Amino acid sequence: MKKNIKNICCIGAGYVGGPTMAVIAKKCPHIQINVVDINKKRIEDWNSEDLASLPIFEPGLGDIIKSCRNKNLHFSTDIKKQIANADMIFISVNTPTKTKGIGAGKASDLKWVESSAREISKYAVGSTIIVEKSTLPVKTALTIKRILESQNNKLNTKSVSQSFAVLSNPEFMSEGSAIKDLENPDRVLIGGEDQEAIKELINIYLNWVDFEKILTTDLWSSELSKLIANAFLAQRISSINSMTALCEKTGADIKNVSLAIGSDKRIGQYFLDSGPGFGGSCFKKDILNLVYICNHYGLDEVSSYWQKVVDINIWQQKRISHIVVDKLFRTVSGKKIAIFGFAFKSNTNDTRESPAISICNDLIEEGSNIYIYDPKVRELQIEKDLGVETNKKYSRNNDDGYWHYSKSIDETIKEADAIIILTGWSEFKKLNYENIFKLMRSPSWIFDARGILDPNHIQSIGFRFWRIGLGNQNVSQYFDMQF
Ligand code: UDX
Ligand code: ADP
Repeated sequence: MKKNIKNICCIGAGYVGGPTMAVIAKKCPHIQINVVDINKKRIEDWNSEDLASLPIFEPGLGDIIKSCRNKNLHFSTDIKKQIANADMIFISVNTPTKTKGIGAGKASDLKWVESSAREISKYAVGSTIIVEKSTLPVKTALTIKRILESQNNKLNTKSVSQSFAVLSNPEFMSEGSAIKDLENPDRVLIGGEDQEAIKELINIYLNWVDFEKILTTDLWSSELSKLIANAFLAQRISSINSMTALCEKTGADIKNVSLAIGSDKRIGQYFLDSGPGFGGSCFKKDILNLVYICNHYGLDEVSSYWQKVVDINIWQQKRISHIVVDKLFRTVSGKKIAIFGFAFKSNTNDTRESPAISICNDLIEEGSNIYIYDPKVRELQIEKDLGVETNKKYSRNNDDGYWHYSKSIDETIKEADAIIILTGWSEFKKLNYENIFKLMRSPSWIFDARGILDPNHIQSIGFRFWRIGLGNQNVSQYFDMQF
């Protein structure tokens, strides 16, 4: 196996490949990194002079791109050449849930992984280390190996020299804090059999990560660890979100509960923020994958246990749209509703599985006119998520539901009946709600699904206010219960 990696190729210039390669380029100036993608527009955006046009928004990413791009970090569509040049190839392509065929709605669609493996087998030269970065179902490495081996057998008859080692190196970074997570990971996990190849990958990470933080394991444990880590994290969100409903009914405050339970070291304080439900490209996909694998092995109790985590998440999103309709006199038809935030979390422009999509769709279905403001999500993306046919300007007399993209908070809230906070962007905390109140129609509602505003302050202005997991503390419904 090759020593001293000098050339890395990353297939897939998305939310995983882009930031991961940017950080490797920053920490390893002696390595040339080529990120390739079949999407020409995406590559153009990565090469754009204007850093605001980068295809993804991530705090700190623009600075790294500025300092490394065209030095040791390159973006291109020249897949063939960059595969041939590479000593090590990262596969960072998308692996969404299958929409049709066997396992539809649960299993991951591996067609992009498979096509990457086929491209590698066609173009790679000499000995190459293949690193799985995308989140993949267990045993995908085996699929990659088989594709590489079958091509290899053919090539060897033509005396072209190729050899491969396949490693699993799942990415644990979160969007919005990707650069920080990549620069200072809790751990780096490497799974594989080829000890030389593992050493090569360890050597790359040792440029900035302590040796103690690098865990090595077998391939399957590594692949499965990624799915299980995401399932555990998502389970925490569904657990706390399920309790928001109980707090609202009984007059408790979920924030006090989170603080109290999180102070127990065994539970821990992180990942206990209640909200409109988890989104993002990983959680739902990975749990459904786990459910599929468990079903496949006949572990029905295990699969239905994890399925519930997804069910609660869907229920929480529906619960919020129902609450909004209920509070607005049971009808939102013809009403203007301001949506604060469309990304699945703050500090990213990613909307994949964002709870805002399902909540906005529900409100459009109910006939409301929603005005969406998000500091980083572009109109084109919202159009992809909500559909172009309902993208219209507001008219109070119109009972058909519409959405409209707002460039400013003022446009969003003018004459609105309600604001719904769906993403916890910090700028929403700092707005002048006194002024906003004056511009809205009465009664003016705020629905804080992220729990970022101070209820006392907002109510003192004159708003009607609902916050996730905050019950009415004056009336303790608990004591109304009949034992
Ligand atoms: C997740 C994992 O955290 C990461 O390790 C993995 O590599 C990819 O998937 P990501 O989806 O980017 O990362 O973001 P994360 O911070 O985990 O948030 C996921 C969702 O949970 C978001 O919608 C977020 O708003 C929600 N969330 C998170 C909460 O509602 N409350 C919390 O306390 C934390
Ligand atoms: P992730 O969040 O996993 O990074 P993204 O969808 O943001 O997912 O990025 C995956 C990228 O992989 C996309 O830009 C897509 O065009 C690219 N891609 C998919 N298949 C291939 C392939 N065979 N060769 C090159 N790029 C690919």
